[in-house]
Amino acid sequence: MKDFKGRTAVLTGAGSGFGLECARICAARGMNLVLVDVQDDALNRTVTELRPQIETQGGNLLARCVDVSEAAAMQALAEDVRNTFGAPHFVFNNAGVCVGGLVWETTPTEWAWVMGVNLMGVVHGVHYFTPMMLEAAKMDSSWNGHIVNTASMAGLLATPNMGIYNVSKHAVVALTETLYQDLKLVSDQINVSVLCPYSVSTGISANELIRPQELAGQQPTASQIIGETMLKKAVQSGKVTAVEIAQKVFDALESGQFYIYSHPHALGAVQARLEDVMLARNPSDPFSDKPELGEQLRTQLRK
Ligand SMILES: NC(=O)c1ccc[n+]([C@@H]2O[C@H](COP(=O)([O-])OP(=O)(O)OC[C@H]3O[C@@H](n4cnc5c(N)ncnc54)[C@H](O)[C@@H]3O)[C@@H](O)[C@H]2O)c1
Repeated sequence: MKDFKGRTAVLTGAGSGFGLECARICAARGMNLVLVDVQDDALNRTVTELRPQIETQGGNLLARCVDVSEAAAMQALAEDVRNTFGAPHFVFNNAGVCVGGLVWETTPTEWAWVMGVNLMGVVHGVHYFTPMMLEAAKMDSSWNGHIVNTASMAGLLATPNMGIYNVSKHAVVALTETLYQDLKLVSDQINVSVLCPYSVSTGISANELIRPQELAGQQPTASQIIGETMLKKAVQSGKVTAVEIAQKVFDALESGQFYIYSHPHALGAVQARLEDVMLARNPSDPFSDKPELGEQLRTQLRK
């Protein structure tokens, strides 16, 4: 996909972080925008910032406060998009949340929340928008589109004390690799990428605002508090910015690249994991390059 002006982009998680930065690039390139987020104040800030720019260029903007984990709300969103713009050319299934902690301490309600947003949110985006895109492609051989699903390096690794997040992101990688293969069976006009960032400073470590009500009264366990502190530290010290990630997404749209990485040096750990799998070797020490981090985690968790 190289030509952006006048085309339509749907972005979930558009109120903050990668979603917001991609929306800014879409607006600068004269696209129509469909902005989606569960936090209406964050969404409204994005709308207020981008609407004048989009309208000056003759484009249009639709904003919907939607929880991506709710199938009916996503179906209604897709219908609104179809009625307003027709099939979208770019779908960025990006909204996500993060919870850490030892895997057996994660409650069923937390599993439902994180899998609902991180996995089912992507499933819904794929389910409701792909058929619309295929239909548009069938009717016009010059039409093309691109779906980008946000996973994480956590989708390629199994870092301890992050089980629920790892599971949700591994699932997004598997879903997106399958989507790539499935689409190749039926069309050459729709491409797919999976975004796998490492730690980047965004709002991801400030989930408190969007935790569902069922979790409001639930006290975090010691391992969850440790996980949250480590996550905050990791994202706050991240050197790559959300602006750079958004640029990488657009580079991938233009070049048709499937895997989008923010920190290529982190792939060493992925290689070690894949070698473990190939050699039937027990999982390698994830802290081999930073042993003090593993020691700190073990000491804290054995108190
Ligand atoms: N920042 C990182 O270090 C990092 C690393 C790897 C992957 N990711 C992934 O990147 C994606 C974007 O995260 P970010 O870092 O920009 O964080 P962010 O918190 O800045 O942005 C995420 C946005 O998603 C929205 N959101 C959360 N739950 C939602 C729901 N149920 N329905 C609709 N919107 C919802 C939030 O309100 C927020 O505006 C996520 O999927 C995250 O898991 C982030």
